[in-house]
Amino acid sequence: MRGLFISIEGPDGSGKSTQIENIKKFFEDKNIEIVFTREPGGTAIGERIREIILDNSFKEMDPMTEAMLYAASRAQHVAQVIGPALEAGKVVVCDRFVDSSLAYQGFGRELGDAVEVINSYAIGPYMPDVTFLMKLDPNEGKHRIQENRDTQDRLEHEKLAFHRKVYKGYLELEKRYPDRILGIDASRGIDEIRDEIYKKLEEII
Ligand code: TYD
Repeated sequence: MRGLFISIEGPDGSGKSTQIENIKKFFEDKNIEIVFTREPGGTAIGERIREIILDNSFKEMDPMTEAMLYAASRAQHVAQVIGPALEAGKVVVCDRFVDSSLAYQGFGRELGDAVEVINSYAIGPYMPDVTFLMKLDPNEGKHRIQENRDTQDRLEHEKLAFHRKVYKGYLELEKRYPDRILGIDASRGIDEIRDEIYKKLEEII
């Protein structure tokens, strides 16, 4: 039987990392082994691609190049890590997946449907079963990043207008895939958010 594929999405600074720690703990407490991984990256090749994508000195990067690099990283990730784990019946938890490309490159960079097409080659049959979407106003997200991080990568450096388009994209995706994407109000307290995620996880395992 195919395993369970969970992805976590959200704009920069939405508190995604904190809740990922909680998700890991949820499975640990139940003694369920998970394969935890992240994008861009997740493989040696993917991590190298990640360095190129996020490098602040590459100001000239064309949006289509960016989209294809994310998709290339994803193709390797699916072939090497995600696909085999799911075929072995494991639980895979992934920090960002295809929805990040749909939101950041499709809506943020305004590449539209091309992003879905490129990524269909990268992911094959492996769509997440459940996607937690951390919903936080981009204004608030930007504030949190500036307060908590010393350095920002190429994408985080983008203007608020870009992050607004990304966020609108996420909200559009939530509407488009209501059976898969669970929107979480990330402006609330950490524990409240955790409880909502745990409730959903209890339902699906
Ligand atoms: P990451 O360093 O993981 O940031 P975060 O901690 O916010 O998840 O992600 C790097 C950046 O890459 C982030 O700004 C989102 C962006 N991104 C895309 O634009 N497209 C994609 O397909 C993925 C996976 C990430």
